[in-house]
Amino acid sequence: MPLPPGPPLPATLQTLLWVTRPLQFMEECRRRYGDVFTVRFTGLATRRDIVFIADPEGVRTVFSGDPSTLHAGSGNAPLEVLLGRNSVLVLDGAEHMRQRKLLLPPLHGERMKRYESVMRDATLAQVQRWPRHRSFALLPEMQRITLEVILRTVFGFDDDDARRDRMRNLLQRMLHYGSGRLRLLAIAFARVELNGRSPWGQFQAAKRDVDAAILEQIAHRRAQQTEQRDDVLSLLLEARDENGAPMSDEELRDELLTLLVAGHETTATSLAWAFDLLLHNRTSLDALVADIDAGNDTWVDATVKETLRIRPVVPIVVRLLQRPFTVMGRDLPAGAVVAPCIYLTHRRADVYPRPERFMPERFVNGAADPYAWLPFGGGVRRCLGASFASFEMRVVLRSILSTVRLQAATSSEEEVSRRAVTLVPRHGTRVICAGPRWRRSASVPEPAAVAV
Ligand code: HEM
Repeated sequence: MPLPPGPPLPATLQTLLWVTRPLQFMEECRRRYGDVFTVRFTGLATRRDIVFIADPEGVRTVFSGDPSTLHAGSGNAPLEVLLGRNSVLVLDGAEHMRQRKLLLPPLHGERMKRYESVMRDATLAQVQRWPRHRSFALLPEMQRITLEVILRTVFGFDDDDARRDRMRNLLQRMLHYGSGRLRLLAIAFARVELNGRSPWGQFQAAKRDVDAAILEQIAHRRAQQTEQRDDVLSLLLEARDENGAPMSDEELRDELLTLLVAGHETTATSLAWAFDLLLHNRTSLDALVADIDAGNDTWVDATVKETLRIRPVVPIVVRLLQRPFTVMGRDLPAGAVVAPCIYLTHRRADVYPRPERFMPERFVNGAADPYAWLPFGGGVRRCLGASFASFEMRVVLRSILSTVRLQAATSSEEEVSRRAVTLVPRHGTRVICAGPRWRRSASVPEPAAVAV
């Protein structure tokens, strides 16, 4: 079965272009071959043909297709060393659905309101430490906020500072091995322990410490009454599957780590992008701040949606075909990979006029079409943290913009750069904090919510 056409370049060159110039590579492929095209990637031992889909109708076909034909977990297999074999990300079929159904209720949109004060406090605590009148990178600041929020709301470390500090240090040590291309390569391909001296050995030691600390937290919560508690771990301890069975400690551990890894950097990066776009688009920033001051949610919601449209942190999602599958009139064989392309679908001029422009007003009165706005993927693999992330982005934006005056430290928007599978601002969104914001309420000038 021939695959749709694509670049005739050697697979190694296509892989290099995908890694170093992903946006230009995708755009050039679409210009030449249309909304469905095949690229060839190669790893050290593998070669993969990936069929990109950049058309909402094709995206719908994939997202509503039979999950037993369209596997996602097997594509995430390399993550198993980090997340464990029970992670919802690496599973497929019935095992995946079991984990997903257990995880869904604690992350449901309705519940998010309960996390608002934690999110706001974590943000304001960080803002108070920012230097004045001197440029700094916002991305690491956003990472500190999102990590703190997950430690408190997901892991339930909200009542003991020392234990939370210890967990944070252990996680940061382990996640350090996932950043940086050389370390990542060393871990992926050179699995020798060398008594804990090799990158792989050090990663293994860090992972063992994290695992032990999470299991300790699970035991700690099990020993307490969890009924009155709101954190995700406490809710998962109460969860039962269709047969009435609870989650094992190992399942809980792997899923907590999965929520952290899937949720912490993605949300932080999206926030850094939101500020980069706002601080370089004065009209959008002014409209947003005025709406926040008026106590509304409309513009902050639209800003989050538009940020995720124009700067999706994950450019594609992938499904590995277990049997032949037809999409947009193309018959694809088992073994091929189909990839709804988030980046290109979001750049369609027929859906989003002037797609290259940051215009939150697109979403002020219009709902997002799930097959043309897909920053969280879709179907039975749609991001479990979509409500959590969108809510957190709204709270962080609102808290910061009503407290301090931020300015861009650069004259133009950031370049998009790749970090592992995500697309990040190359210099981490450099900003300057010009001090607290003073707001006019009625006739009396009033300082913003906290003193900074
Ligand atoms: C702006 C922030 C985020 C973005 C852009 C994002 C994006 C994504 C994407 C594209 C997928 C794959 C979907 C697919 O294959 O169709 C995914 C999966 C997932 N995400 Fe997120 N995510 C974000 C935040 C979060 C947060 C905060 C959490 C947890 C609290 C989370 C948990 C997960 C999980 C557990 C999955 C696997 C779902 C499954 O395989 O069934 N994500 N996310």
